[in-house]
Parts: sequence; structure tokens; C-alpha cells
Amino acid sequence: MSGRLNGKTAIITGAGGGIGKTAALRFAGEGCAVAVADINPDAARGTAGEIMDRGGRAFAVAVDVSQTASVTAMIDEAEAHFGGIDILFNNAGIVHPGDRDVCETDLDAWSKTIAVNLTGVFLCCSLGIPSLLRRGGGVILNTASIVALVGSTPSQIAYTASKGGVVAMTREIAIAYARKGIRANSLLPGVTRTAIGDLIVKDEEAFAARRIHMPMGRLAEPDEIAETALYLCSSEASFITAQAIVVDGGLTSAYLCPTD
Ligand code: NAI
Repeated sequence: MSGRLNGKTAIITGAGGGIGKTAALRFAGEGCAVAVADINPDAARGTAGEIMDRGGRAFAVAVDVSQTASVTAMIDEAEAHFGGIDILFNNAGIVHPGDRDVCETDLDAWSKTIAVNLTGVFLCCSLGIPSLLRRGGGVILNTASIVALVGSTPSQIAYTASKGGVVAMTREIAIAYARKGIRANSLLPGVTRTAIGDLIVKDEEAFAARRIHMPMGRLAEPDEIAETALYLCSSEASFITAQAIVVDGGLTSAYLCPTD
């Protein structure tokens, strides 16, 4: 069977649910061996189990991406399992309930958000790049968000700042490692139908407020984001690096949207 990621190995963080889970199943379906990493060990085991039930290669690893020792252990375990790592899809992220307007967000909500969404991506890159280099190169994909590009109110100021940081950091990593065989891009989804999507779009009113800015008038499905992640992590995207790839149904390019 020929798969687009045949012979490749990946660590996908936040793969217990949502976009990460969908991507893990999709990558595995294309021949990739996947380390399914999540802070929720049951969820990670669930995804890994589904992959193996479908005949794919996977194992579950519990990780808190905000903790150095935990990320080191995850990378060591993936290397030991698979003999090397080709792809780091650093996707884990949170929305903190106390993350609001800049004047209303306390330091705890700020720090926790930055710790997972930005420091977590930093740690996975910083500690994971040596593994990619041992393979002669590889691919990094870091999940950001459209809020790195467009402002909104009501705010989630820490989330927005963390995702802006991911975009800038990823660009710099891409430049620094471009001649060492590593490509690095960030992925900027619009609102996507996942647990985080449900936090953002709590009810019909919240959806209606956003829909007027959505040219296509709907949220993204997780597989629409995972499909782009697959492309960016495959050799089909071999000349794409240092980019912030937006998958938002046109939202960040829209001025006035259809009203029907
Ligand atoms: P989700 O909540 O379904 O999945 C996130 C996963 O990350 C969960 O399985 C969770 O257990 C895990 N996680 C949380 N903290 C962790 C930690 N410290 N260490 C390891 N794993 C941890 O949410 P979704 O939507 O799939 O989010 C994936 C990424 O996409 C996140 O970075 C999110 O910020 C980003 N994103 C999501 C959008 C949406 O509307 N759903 C829009 C734009 C970006």
C-alpha cells in the first residue's frame, strides 16, 4: 500500500481529541507511525487504539507540553519506539476560562495559557529538533490560530498573544534550520468544530456573531484542518517553509460577507 507518509514517524501533541486526533488517524492512514501524545492518557490511548484497530502503527504517551521533563520523556520514548522522529506536529493548546479582555485577565490565566500554547511549542521544538537532525532533517508544524492575524472582541488576550508568538517563533525556526533539512510552518485554523471550538462558539448567539464574518457561513470540520496538516507534513510540500498557513474558509480575507 502506498501512503503519502510511508516510512515516516510523527509525534502529534494534543492527539487525544479534536484536530490532533483527526490528524493522527489521517497520518497513520497514510503509513505514518504516530506517537499519540496528550495530557489526558485515556484519550491518547483511545486514539492510539483506533489507529492500531485500523492496522496502523501508534503508541500513546502522556505528556504535559509545558513541562521540560515531560517533553524530554515523550521524545525519548518516541525515538525508542520508532528508532527516530521525522515529524513534530505541535498541536496541543488550551483556552483558559479566565482568559478575557486585557484588563480582566489575571496573571494566572495569562501564565497557564502561555505555558501550554507557547512554551509548550517552544519545548517541543527545542527538545525535538535534535531528533529530527539525527534523521538528517524533518518537518515541524505548529498549530497557531487566525487570532494571530486578526483582532477580535470579546478578547482572549493570552490565547491571542500565545498564537502570535507561535507564528513568529515558527518563522524564525524555519529560517534557522532551512539548510539543515528541516521545514517549519505554522497552521492557522479558523473556528473548528472541536472541544475548543465549542468553548469559543458556546451557543447560537455566539455563532451568529461570528457567522457574519465567515464568507462560507460555517465552522471548519477537524478533517479539513487535518488534511492541510497532512499536506504540509508530506514531501508534497517540500518547498514550503516559514509560512503561516491559514485554513479559515476565507475569514481573514473578508471585508463584507454574503448575507444569505
Ligand atoms: P481540543 O481541546 O479538542 O484538543 C486539544 C488537545 O490538547 C486535548 O486532547 C487536550 O487534552 C490536549 N492538551 C491540553 N493541554 C495539554 C498539555 N499541557 N499537554 C499535552 N496535551 C494537552 O482542541 P482543538 O480544537 O483540537 O485544538 C487543537 C489546536 O488547535 C490547539 O492548539 C488550538 O489552540 C488550535 N486551534 C483550535 C481552533 C478551534 O476553533 N478549535 C481554532 C484555531 C486554533
